[in-house]
Amino acid sequence: MAKTHRKADQYNDPNHNYLKYWDGRDYENAAEEIAIGRLLKKKHFKHAVDVGGGYGRLCVFLENFADKVTLAEPSQQQLDIAKDFLKDHKEIDRKLLQADDLKFEDKSVDLLTMVRVMHHLPDPTPEFKEIYRVLAKDGVFILELANNAHGRNRVKYALKGKGIPAEPVDIRSPENQREEEIPFVNHHPRTVIKQLQEAGFKVEKALSVSNLRSTTIKKFVPHSVMLSVEKMLQPTLALTYFGPSVFFLVRKKK
Ligand SMILES: C[S@@+](CC[C@H](N)C(=O)[O-])C[C@H]1O[C@@H](n2cnc3c(N)ncnc32)[C@H](O)[C@@H]1O
Repeated sequence: MAKTHRKADQYNDPNHNYLKYWDGRDYENAAEEIAIGRLLKKKHFKHAVDVGGGYGRLCVFLENFADKVTLAEPSQQQLDIAKDFLKDHKEIDRKLLQADDLKFEDKSVDLLTMVRVMHHLPDPTPEFKEIYRVLAKDGVFILELANNAHGRNRVKYALKGKGIPAEPVDIRSPENQREEEIPFVNHHPRTVIKQLQEAGFKVEKALSVSNLRSTTIKKFVPHSVMLSVEKMLQPTLALTYFGPSVFFLVRKKK
């Protein structure tokens, strides 16, 4: 089996608590739940696995769509935070697993989500291969990616007389661009669609998400108004990949 180059345990850093990262990001959290809800509609699944699910931020929401939810996460520290975060949801399994080696039986998972993990996967080929292996024939794969082709970037690249690169772009500061540091990349959605196709998948739907992500907008516009506008924009802006985050609904090719 193709493997990623290294163990993905970077979130074990005791100086970094990912739960704190979400302070002040209620809009992004709600925007992501709206996107997942919209892609899944009224579908119901037997077993949902949230790959790279961190401390389980989205697991409780996923319970609305599945009989059983498993948090699959390669960082023990994230799983330890999850133990407390999910203390009222003992039915959610927490497993130390990495996306390129998920250990589940072939075709045994009918809903698999992977949100905010592509940031750390410059070449997701081994992970897509493994997800293909565990996903049921008619299963659904919800994939989020950090979008390098978003509206603001397009203006930035255009001002430099450049197009958006097709390959992933390293967004780490120059001092962090070292082998030992966790990769941090933004992807071009069209490249990811190709990678998914090569792995045997097809993208059925796309949404543009967190379209209003801006500290200034968040400061002045009420949360409820932001979410109403976000709801409207997600499908409308999907074709142009406007937002900083893109969600795909992916299935196996027939
Ligand atoms: C930015 S956090 C997102 C967590 C969660 N998905 C969320 O949206 O709240 C990225 C997570 O991806 C995990 N991760 C990094 N590399 C991974 C890999 N190769 N396979 C699975 N998870 C990975 C990290 O441990 C971390 O918990």
